[in-house]
Amino acid sequence: MEAFLEYRHIHKRFGDNHVLDGVSLTVARGETMVILGGSGTGKSVLLKLTIGLLEPDKGHILVEGNDVTSAREAEWMEVRKHVSYMFQWGALFDSMSVYDNVAFPLRERKLCGEADVEGRVMEKLSLVGLEAAKDLSPSDLSGGMRKRVALARSIVMEPRCILYDEPTSGLDPITSDSINRLIKRMQSVLGVTSVVVTHDIQSMFRVADRVAFLYKGRMAFVGTPEEARSADHPMLRGFIEGREPNESES
Ligand SMILES: Nc1ncnc2c1ncn2[C@@H]1O[C@H](COP(=O)(O)OP(=O)(O)OP(=O)(O)O)[C@@H](O)[C@H]1O
Ligand SMILES: [Mg+2]
Repeated sequence: MEAFLEYRHIHKRFGDNHVLDGVSLTVARGETMVILGGSGTGKSVLLKLTIGLLEPDKGHILVEGNDVTSAREAEWMEVRKHVSYMFQWGALFDSMSVYDNVAFPLRERKLCGEADVEGRVMEKLSLVGLEAAKDLSPSDLSGGMRKRVALARSIVMEPRCILYDEPTSGLDPITSDSINRLIKRMQSVLGVTSVVVTHDIQSMFRVADRVAFLYKGRMAFVGTPEEARSADHPMLRGFIEGREPNESES
């Protein structure tokens, strides 16, 4: 197994809030790793550390074998050409059209000339079924459409790795499933490595090669979805069975 991402004993705190307390995890090239965990356990923080939006207090992060822990901004820019982040809340620019939102990473990172932008943007909009919405403002779209625009924007640069932060939350089951299929398709067609943060257990079973469960600042479980189903960690069981976990069990 060739590692694409490696987190080694990552610690991150904000004031007295010790969010990550020695997280270690390896994501293999080409695999889809789903991260489960309660609200506020640091899942988004972990993704942000991966592209240098936050810095760990301790520990090391390796991307394709390179230690980027204390990388400079120029190196992070290089990482972000290959590793894209689909923000939890979309983070679309309402002042720009859908088209310009999706074109943004290509233009900002000067990944291709303007002549190639259109083909790449329209191809991604068609993948998410939104060609007809290209001239609209994101503020005129439904929540599900906004998610799909955010997805198109995160894949437009044809990254080697995609970090999805809650790609299906708040979506109806059919739209969720179209997102799940896109995640699978990015993996099978482009061979991307994916990290998917989700609360959506159905989505986890659809897309995951492996699952990691973040609990109390560490990965309390890492294994296949099948192993997760029979894991004896009470909090993870609660997640998978969709019931209110009982804190006292753990
Ligand atoms: N920039 C920041 N400054 C201070 N605290 C932060 C910052 N970013 C995150 N936190 C805190 O870190 C903790 C983890 O946040 P994070 O957003 O990673 O949670 P999460 O696991 O993604 O939760 P959710 O499932 O609700 O999205 C929270 O207590 C949050 O308030
Ligand atoms: Mg989050």
